Amino acid sequence: MRTLPRIGMMSTMENRIAKTAWCRSYQAALKVANYLLGYQTPEVLEGPGCVRQLPRAIAAHGIGRVLLVCGPHLYARGAADSLMEALAAQEIEAHVFCDLQANPTDRDVEAGYASFVENACEAIIAFGGGSPLDCAKAIAVKAAHPTKPVTAYQGVLKVRTKLVPLFAVPTTAGTGSETTIASVITDAATHHKASINDPALMPTLAVLDPELTVSLPPHVTATTGMDALCHAVESYTNATYCTKLENDYARRAVRLIFENLPRAYEQGDDLTARQNLQRAAFYAGRAFTRGCVGYVHAVGHTLGGLYGVSHGLAMAVILPKVLRQYGPAVYPRLAELADACGIKANTTAERALTLIARIEQLNEQLGIPAGFDCIRDEDIPQIIAWADAEANPLYPVPVVWCRGDFERLIGKLKVTTER
Ligand SMILES: [Fe+2]
Repeated sequence: MRTLPRIGMMSTMENRIAKTAWCRSYQAALKVANYLLGYQTPEVLEGPGCVRQLPRAIAAHGIGRVLLVCGPHLYARGAADSLMEALAAQEIEAHVFCDLQANPTDRDVEAGYASFVENACEAIIAFGGGSPLDCAKAIAVKAAHPTKPVTAYQGVLKVRTKLVPLFAVPTTAGTGSETTIASVITDAATHHKASINDPALMPTLAVLDPELTVSLPPHVTATTGMDALCHAVESYTNATYCTKLENDYARRAVRLIFENLPRAYEQGDDLTARQNLQRAAFYAGRAFTRGCVGYVHAVGHTLGGLYGVSHGLAMAVILPKVLRQYGPAVYPRLAELADACGIKANTTAERALTLIARIEQLNEQLGIPAGFDCIRDEDIPQIIAWADAEANPLYPVPVVWCRGDFERLIGKLKVTTER
């Protein structure tokens, strides 16, 4: 599909204009396709302790055997015990697959699929943070397309098949994976991390139980919350694909995160703050399902794939730097988000810049570092190539970047002594 010259040849202003025109044309067509596709929103169970109601909902679908996909540490410390007991009480046979890593790979997916088949499972429960949820979705894709490697479905609208029912139980408030059509999987051989995007991946039901998040360490609360903020901000500043619904969800998510993330970070057992953050992550997930993310995610995914940087940490560090680099093009939309947060200032630019400063202050408050010391100079061409391929032309970012723009950003990410 790509008809433009490779990024390495695109340093002139003429090429920047051509690349932007090409991306905007693609996005205009995709915007129409988006309207025609429509997006479901999963059923929701919400409230303290509501995870114990999940087995009844599963039984209502006529399902008697499930694969529970869960992170190994989470499972070992008994986080899924009450759900397992409730499943047994409902006479639902649950087989546990927890042999997966953070940033799940195609090999993890193959192993999970083998367990799914071996135990003749009819549905999948995804229990945990972003990694188990992404892995569970990819296992469902593999179950629908058993003869091909799951990495063949990375990209947009390649699945195109109804999947087995997927019940999503997030134990962090960040990825929003319980209401997205995306599953991010790393190719174990190349370390390339890329997303499968297809409406078929939308979970059947999402469980928002704040009791599942109270034991999260403060650092994880912080970084996952910043991931949710990033979803809301990137989808809102993209603007192009969003309808009134996604715009409204993104504004609500940003406000809820600013109001509740410091409270949940300081006081982990504040159930109200935890519930509000889960709701924010859900809203933000639904917002970017249509609105897409942007360069923060595109660059962040490469750092996860190459160096194992946690997704939320990458998002927190990169977000304010990308927003500053976008410049005035993004001020009007950021000013609207500032309004949603009650930020007062005279001009659009002042409101936008105040919002960026608030994000930077929030990072400081949450103990987020200013940059990364893992980025190697020899990897930069690969980082740029992967980020460019992920974002352009799919993401309707406010400013289309060429290689020099990515290099500027990466230079700022390597600065570790000042924010
Ligand atoms: Fe994210």
